[in-house]
Amino acid sequence: MARYTIAWLPGDGIGKEVMEAARLVLDALHLDATYPHGDIGWDYWCAEGDAFPQRTIELLSSSHAAMFGAITSKPVNAAEAELSSSLRGTGLVYRSPIVRMRQLFDLYICLRPCKAYPGNPLNFKEAIDLVVLRENTEDLYSGVEFGPVPPALAETLGSLSKPFGVFKGLAPDEYAVSCKINTRKGSSRIVRAAFEFAREHKRKRVTIVHKANVVRATDGLFLEEARQVAREFPDIHVDEANIDAICMWLLKNPFNYDVLVAPNLYGDIISDLCAQMVGGLGFGCSGNIGSKLAVFEPTHGSAPKYAGQYKVNPIATILAAKMMLDWLGEGEMGRRLEQATAAVIKEGKVRTYDMGGTATTMQMAEAIAEKVQA
Ligand SMILES: NC(=O)c1ccc[n+]([C@@H]2O[C@H](COP(=O)([O-])OP(=O)(O)OC[C@H]3O[C@@H](n4cnc5c(N)ncnc54)[C@H](O)[C@@H]3O)[C@@H](O)[C@H]2O)c1
Repeated sequence: MARYTIAWLPGDGIGKEVMEAARLVLDALHLDATYPHGDIGWDYWCAEGDAFPQRTIELLSSSHAAMFGAITSKPVNAAEAELSSSLRGTGLVYRSPIVRMRQLFDLYICLRPCKAYPGNPLNFKEAIDLVVLRENTEDLYSGVEFGPVPPALAETLGSLSKPFGVFKGLAPDEYAVSCKINTRKGSSRIVRAAFEFAREHKRKRVTIVHKANVVRATDGLFLEEARQVAREFPDIHVDEANIDAICMWLLKNPFNYDVLVAPNLYGDIISDLCAQMVGGLGFGCSGNIGSKLAVFEPTHGSAPKYAGQYKVNPIATILAAKMMLDWLGEGEMGRRLEQATAAVIKEGKVRTYDMGGTATTMQMAEAIAEKVQA
């Protein structure tokens, strides 16, 4: 029996292609694993009314880790329109399978390393090496949303909140409410994960990202918990930054930062900003990590305009596979994979379109697989 069961969830569009590329590289490393396929994504929504079927949830429950490609998501009305005719009008509501997966398996850490590999023509500056830890299960992604707004909710908000007064009297479909919910437990554990990551990887600084001066209740709570956790790590320098200011400062001087930790939405924003500084979507890898399961993925989506062309860059997914190897405790294999990827980038002979080249997705994977075996 193989040592690891890795649930293999290609999803939609280019998700399938970049996962095929990552598999080629993992096979070259001879990881002792099986890769059972998991159904996820738009086809399953259309045919079954569920983009994340129960059988896939069960597969994840019995796996050591998972690799996930990308899925297509569409707004609620478009999702309803594409349902098979027998399911239309039955009250099914589309919800992102990734958000559901993160909540269901309590994958509370979204880890996004952003490293400028030498020689990548897309680097904003050489030697950038940032790591973002984004809270992954709560905040504005709680899924507690209302649009149209039920009158009972409007009445309650009106009686409890003075600032709600300016919205009083709006018709239910003239506005919408999304709840930003942050808990003490959710805030403190992501900040602790950031400090522990910093300590383990000999990094010197953790920056806490928030907007507590305006979003006082939820970000105030996050900051309070973060400060308390920071006291347990006197060996690591801590600083704080507003989300708007950090977007400016990160661009101006990325070398002033090291590990960044943030609630869900701000973390989503800064991790895309950091990913763009080291090559963009073709390089952005991430891990959704819980205490029992971790799911690794590129940060990009299904890119429908390139689907079927085997043209996009698989490096983000290959680096996600490297993160998975590290998480499984296969650090030596992870190092070999990263070195091989870095060597191909540095040589510059094989480049996909985003890097200014003409190599296909699989040619990039083959070049990395060759170096892994060398
Ligand atoms: N995690 C996910 O599965 C995820 C993330 C983002 C978007 N989406 C979904 O994906 C679909 C398409 O969304 P989108 O077009 O806004 O974003 P996208 O990330 O799919 O693609 C945007 C553009 O980025 C570039 N790009 C993406 N991946 C690349 C790669 N590996 N190599 C080179 N270039 C790459 C392409 O130019 C592409 O057109 C939507 O349905 C969206 O909801 C899914």
